[in-house]
Amino acid sequence: MANVCVIGAGYVGLVSGACLAELGHSVTCLEIDSKRLSSLQSAEVPFHEPGLSELVERHSRAERLRFTSEYSQAIPQAEYAFIAVNTPQGAEGRADTGFVFAAVRSVLEHATDMLVLVTKSTVPVGTGDEIAHLAEEQGRFPIAVVSNPEFLREGTAVHDFLHPDRVVVGASDTWAGAAVAELYAGLDAPVVTTTRRAAELAKYTANAFLAARISFMNEISSVCDAVGVDVEDVARIVGSDPRIGPAFLRAGLGWGGSCFPKDVQALAVTAATHGCRTPILEGVFRQNVRQRERAAEMLLASVGHLPDPTIGVLGLAFKPGTDDLREAPALAVAARLLEAGVRVRAHDPVAVPNAREIAPDIHYCADAYEAVTDCDAVLLATEWPEYLGLDWARARSLMRGAVILDGRNVLDARLLRTLGVTYLSFGRSETVNDCGNGHEPSDDPEAQPLATTQLPPAYPVPQPRGYRSEVSV
Ligand code: UDX
Ligand code: UDX
Repeated sequence: MANVCVIGAGYVGLVSGACLAELGHSVTCLEIDSKRLSSLQSAEVPFHEPGLSELVERHSRAERLRFTSEYSQAIPQAEYAFIAVNTPQGAEGRADTGFVFAAVRSVLEHATDMLVLVTKSTVPVGTGDEIAHLAEEQGRFPIAVVSNPEFLREGTAVHDFLHPDRVVVGASDTWAGAAVAELYAGLDAPVVTTTRRAAELAKYTANAFLAARISFMNEISSVCDAVGVDVEDVARIVGSDPRIGPAFLRAGLGWGGSCFPKDVQALAVTAATHGCRTPILEGVFRQNVRQRERAAEMLLASVGHLPDPTIGVLGLAFKPGTDDLREAPALAVAARLLEAGVRVRAHDPVAVPNAREIAPDIHYCADAYEAVTDCDAVLLATEWPEYLGLDWARARSLMRGAVILDGRNVLDARLLRTLGVTYLSFGRSETVNDCGNGHEPSDDPEAQPLATTQLPPAYPVPQPRGYRSEVSV
């Protein structure tokens, strides 16, 4: 059993802390947000993550998991200090490591013995080296710095921590790497040991690669629409090639969340800083922006000539199983619709309280049926299981129009068509290019499709030294 301090009790830190307690370690989570801290001190998890509340309650009760905001309480007895603070997007797309270095300085100030400093936060390659340098300069005790990136998907983060494909440990001191690997001894997972820099870069590469797969299939989905092919068939066929594999090939509204968007850009910035061109990363990002634009265009085209158009959005979180709205495609599309003068009604099983704070112009509804009521079109933006099982005949009867854009390619297109719905999707063809709206054509000669809005903020294409991008933004 080891004494572990985890700094930052957010989506990653809290899951890591609770799971390390589950592995038998004594864990103190340090959290500076007083509201978040006080709910954690009552064993209440301040965000939605399946399975986490149960772990937090159980280990808090057993006193294997504690919460504090004081470095002076958490660090002196710690053998390991995990840095799990957020690394948000900073200027020009680079990763802002300000919170990481603030945490490192506080650890150095309060350490009373040697310890292992573990970076769990996603940080640009070379950050561990900088931390090690700082520790050598300012630390009063020997501090080893180890990179131990996370691969936790929100919604299944507890499972991912306890059943990882691999544990990645990047260290320059063999003993420190072995000591971190030892923390995970209770798991049935291979440990990949490597250099600190390789661990840091591998984390970004993994997220960028996953994002690239999705963007690639989304690009193919446009081709499918143009040539009358179902993208699901294409994904199934290419995914059954073991060299490709089936995961992360689902076409739809595109990727969001707290990691992919910022990590794709931060990796491009890192590359540019080192003089490397990354046209693929640029394309991956742009394609994702385009996907949201396509959704807004399809919806606006379908309601454009109607008086007082209203669109319902089912699902706001960036994916099911979370209340996280960071870079949620649903909110980006909703913002575009609102800008174009459309009324937007929305429902999400868990994310509405968070959404109210950042998107007050949306009309929030208590359930999915209320959200679709009197709508001319509906966008399914997040594939929450409850939406798949909706009584679509009832939903259709509550709608004013009959257009449904299946933003996740998960609905039963045939059933919807038999209900008279104009089914739109990303690459499921047949009626895809028919942006009808289920209404009779308008007699009004003035009726014009609503103007679609401008492209969202441009991707800040980083300029490698001595290179001018051919892409103008
Ligand atoms: C994590 C990672 O650490 C990030 O690098 C990765 O790319 C995505 O996942 P996440 O857990 O999603 O970030 O962030 P968040 O849920 O915002 O949690 C961070 C927590 O750290 C917050 O509760 C914040 O209050 C806390 N924090 C931040 C501190 O306790 N101290 C600080 O100095 C800064
Ligand atoms: C991601 C990484 O997967 C995880 O390892 C960690 O590094 C944190 O970042 P997360 O952001 O929680 O996890 O979600 P993920 O399941 O990866 O999905 C990201 C986005 O891609 C979501 O918006 C999801 O809807 C979208 N997605 C995923 C698709 O559009 N199609 C797919 O086939 C898969």
